[in-house]
Amino acid sequence: MIGSEIAAVLGLTAAATALPQQQKQTLQWKPCPELNEQIANLSDPFPITKFDCAKLQVPLDYSCPKSSELLELDLFRINATKEPVLGSILYNPGGPGGTAAENLPLNAPDLHLNIGGQYNLISWDPRGTGNTLPFNCGVADAAGSSNVARRDTDLSLASANTTEIFLNFGWDQAVAYADACFATNNKTGQFIGTGSTAHDMISIVDALGEDGLLRYYGWSYGTALGDYFAAMFPDRVERMVLDANVNPHTYQQGHRSEFLEDTDKAFAAFIAECLANADACPLVAATNATTPTELFAVFNALISPLAENATSSPEAFNAYVGAIAVPYQQLYYPANWPSLAQTLTDTLLGVVPDTPTTPPPPPYNLGTDSLNGIRCSDATLQVPDATSYLPTLSSQLNSTTGFGPIYSALWPCASWRMPDKLQYTGNFTAKTRHPILFVNGEFDVATPISGAYNASAGFEGSVVLAHNGYGHGIIPSPSRCVAEKIQAYFVEGALPEEGTRCEPDFGPWELRAFYEESGLVRPF
Ligand SMILES: *[C@@H]1O[C@H](CO)[C@@H](O)[C@H](O)[C@H]1NC(C)=O
Ligand SMILES: *[C@@H]1O[C@H](CO)[C@@H](O)[C@H](O)[C@H]1NC(C)=O
Ligand SMILES: *[C@@H]1O[C@H](CO)[C@@H](O)[C@H](O)[C@H]1NC(C)=O
Ligand SMILES: *[C@@H]1O[C@H](CO)[C@@H](O)[C@H](O)[C@H]1NC(C)=O
Ligand SMILES: *[C@@H]1O[C@H](CO)[C@@H](O)[C@H](O)[C@H]1NC(C)=O
Ligand SMILES: *[C@@H]1O[C@H](CO)[C@@H](O)[C@H](O)[C@H]1NC(C)=O
Ligand SMILES: *[C@@H]1O[C@H](CO)[C@@H](O)[C@H](O)[C@H]1NC(C)=O
Ligand SMILES: *[C@@H]1O[C@H](CO)[C@@H](O)[C@H](O)[C@H]1NC(C)=O
Ligand SMILES: *[C@@H]1O[C@H](CO)[C@@H](O)[C@H](O)[C@H]1NC(C)=O
Repeated sequence: MIGSEIAAVLGLTAAATALPQQQKQTLQWKPCPELNEQIANLSDPFPITKFDCAKLQVPLDYSCPKSSELLELDLFRINATKEPVLGSILYNPGGPGGTAAENLPLNAPDLHLNIGGQYNLISWDPRGTGNTLPFNCGVADAAGSSNVARRDTDLSLASANTTEIFLNFGWDQAVAYADACFATNNKTGQFIGTGSTAHDMISIVDALGEDGLLRYYGWSYGTALGDYFAAMFPDRVERMVLDANVNPHTYQQGHRSEFLEDTDKAFAAFIAECLANADACPLVAATNATTPTELFAVFNALISPLAENATSSPEAFNAYVGAIAVPYQQLYYPANWPSLAQTLTDTLLGVVPDTPTTPPPPPYNLGTDSLNGIRCSDATLQVPDATSYLPTLSSQLNSTTGFGPIYSALWPCASWRMPDKLQYTGNFTAKTRHPILFVNGEFDVATPISGAYNASAGFEGSVVLAHNGYGHGIIPSPSRCVAEKIQAYFVEGALPEEGTRCEPDFGPWELRAFYEESGLVRPF
């Protein structure tokens, strides 16, 4: 069903395409010093954990059993740190579009810390990323170049009229971007979605040569991948921890209309923590603010001119999205909150930051558009025109006062033309072999805890463990309580009682000292 043309596109060798599909493969792990060095260079100044490499050939198109076209996956392994070794845990680093090579070697110490060190950590560059069908549209991103609360506070952040932006040029830009991606990827774009990747996970589990069951830790988008896998292959789930959860239903539709639901709340927490650490938070000295209302007013004064101008042109809109993306992204990591306060102070005082003079090393991930390539090929909601999307837009904008324009990154999915061949369209209900453990922070800027409860409702016996800490996922806000529960789950299969809530060990202004004392140099 796919000619030799695609083999050329994929860079497949004759030998690779000739391998019979049924042949059982076992992973051959090898040292890969050159790639270790390349990743170390890219991660500098943050140290990486040494890893081994393997390759695995999988069917390009699982929906077509007769096809012998193959695809090569790049796999990476970081060894357990403690005996006895209990097996392997697969890890997906989120995005979608994140590569294992860039993320696993940086995150391994934190994963070991939470999981307990007795498992080998295995990850792979998902289809669309790295060197595996890299998805690249050859154009700048659509509306907003950013890749990137429950309204229980009295805060109201300055905002642009995003509906007007959407109708003036946002929708047209999104359509043009989707068209450009189709024009450049129409042969391969239907093989990189999450349904296909879930099948790859089966191939990987089989090739590990263990018990044929999945042990998995998924973060952020990796939770969607976990939900898809669990719904498609419930009998293969031996252990699954899903951390920082997307709502699988709105992810599947492609608009994620609630994903910024806790973002205002997280921003309010940043303001409150700054005031609580007034001596160490430079914003306080620079403004003499003593109340949250005063600090919000300071932030709004910075952002308002950009917001007011944002309707005037795509460039002005991009400048505005870029400005709100600064706090949005720093809110992922409470250890960065002091430097976010410094950045806002510098902006207020007109201090221009130094720009780096040495150019960065060439990128590892060749899939520059893999984020959209993957999530949009999963998306089931496509509409014919801007007007038809307005109810969806309104539910997106309803979830946040000031961060709504970040939703613009999802608009192209509504006119996507390359659905995943194995697109999963089910309702995420299943009885898994062993119940899933969901964990979620209560101030998560990108994945509100409602997503965890929503997903958990579909999977029998699953439990949500709430973490009363800041940041995107549990890793940026260490908690011995969370780590104990995750270790008990992986090792003994024990699930905490529904309703269990853990406290973080440190506040945002204490984290640097903790990382320095514990010798963990973190990539944030
Ligand atoms: C890593 O960086 C060093 C110093 O810039 C350079 O000499 C070396 O070639 C780089 N290695 C790789 C694999 O990119
Ligand atoms: C991981 O463990 C295997 C088997 O014990 C060993 O051969 C390999 O060198 C280790 N890899 C690294 C990067 O330490
Ligand atoms: C925003 O723009 C839309 C479309 O132009 C318009 O209908 C709406 O009244 C505007 N909202 C506000 C608050 O100005
Ligand atoms: C499909 O992609 C090829 C390049 O891979 C391009 O030349 C062609 O125009 C595309 N077809 C459509 C209908 O966009
Ligand atoms: C903050 O208060 C100090 C001391 O009263 C004063 O010197 C300074 O000008 C004030 N700064 C601002 C931005 O109001
Ligand atoms: C508003 O945006 C336009 C580009 O559309 C730019 O030329 C102008 O400088 C911006 N004005 C402000 C006040 O940022
Ligand atoms: C927006 O939020 C309000 C209040 O929470 C709710 O009543 C309304 O239905 C929401 N609108 C949409 C389109 O989601
Ligand atoms: C989900 O789908 C399954 C199979 O299609 C069906 O039996 C079940 O009733 C659905 N559950 C819900 C809550 O819609
Ligand atoms: C999960 O979210 C979807 C989409 O918002 C919604 O339709 C569904 O009712 C939710 N399910 C639960 C159990 O909350």
